[in-house]
Amino acid sequence: SGVLTELVVDNLREIPDFPEPGVLFRDITPLLANGKAFANLIDGLAAHYRGHIDAVAGLESRGFVLAAPLAVHLGLGMITVRKGGKLPGPVLGEDYSLEYGTARMEIRPDTVVAGQRVLVIDDVLATGGTAAASISLLERAGAQVVAVCMLLELAGLGGRERLPGRRIDSVVTFP
Ligand code: HPA
Repeated sequence: SGVLTELVVDNLREIPDFPEPGVLFRDITPLLANGKAFANLIDGLAAHYRGHIDAVAGLESRGFVLAAPLAVHLGLGMITVRKGGKLPGPVLGEDYSLEYGTARMEIRPDTVVAGQRVLVIDDVLATGGTAAASISLLERAGAQVVAVCMLLELAGLGGRERLPGRRIDSVVTFP
């Protein structure tokens, strides 16, 4: 949506050569630090999803920062999709490949209600590995993942192609 796109664009910081030379890092901390902007973002997302979802799943770590206020705003619960090894069991886990090596996401399946409509939210869609693993976990636990909301989509990294058939709502897309 246009107003949310402008809100996010206006509150981003672009940092050249971070975390390594040649990478232009898009930093959302100015948005989070601006109380009005942060509140307007959450209000806007809530208006968009109200009535269409039953729970909000946040992807550790920056997805938690968005999922928690959105869930509270909508009167819904939040599902925490965590990095491997952080949650006490029983957990479901899913390994996925990174540029170098592998990573793992985990959930407690007892935080998912069978058939509930879940929104997955995170800050950045890059290669899509974390999102794909997280969606798989949520569906294995019985959720119906109805949409994926990303503040920033870095389209050149191919994340959308790694999530075929998914509704992906990116607030801002960079080539
Ligand atoms: N910003 C934040 N997180 C990221 C980025 C970025 O530009 N690229 C990959 N992860």
